Amino acid sequence: MGTACHVRGAKDVLTEMEKKLGIKEGETTPDLAVTLETVGCVGCCALAPVATVNDQELYGELSPGMVEDIIATTRSEHGTHV
Ligand code: FES
Repeated sequence: MGTACHVRGAKDVLTEMEKKLGIKEGETTPDLAVTLETVGCVGCCALAPVATVNDQELYGELSPGMVEDIIATTRSEHGTHV
């Protein structure tokens, strides 16, 4: 939610994540698989808006339409049931 991500649509991406996960920012899914958090900046502003998963994978130039695929990829690679 840093400046670069904010001006390039981070709020819309966050809203879509909240919708798809069924939780709000700062909350954890009922099965404890996913916690959705926001941060100020991850240092990759040129790729804004950006999201990370477990501080390992980084997704850049996000749009709301990419959220479903990211959740599916996270589910398959990390064995989560989101
Ligand atoms: S503001 Fe998002 S990576 Fe810097």
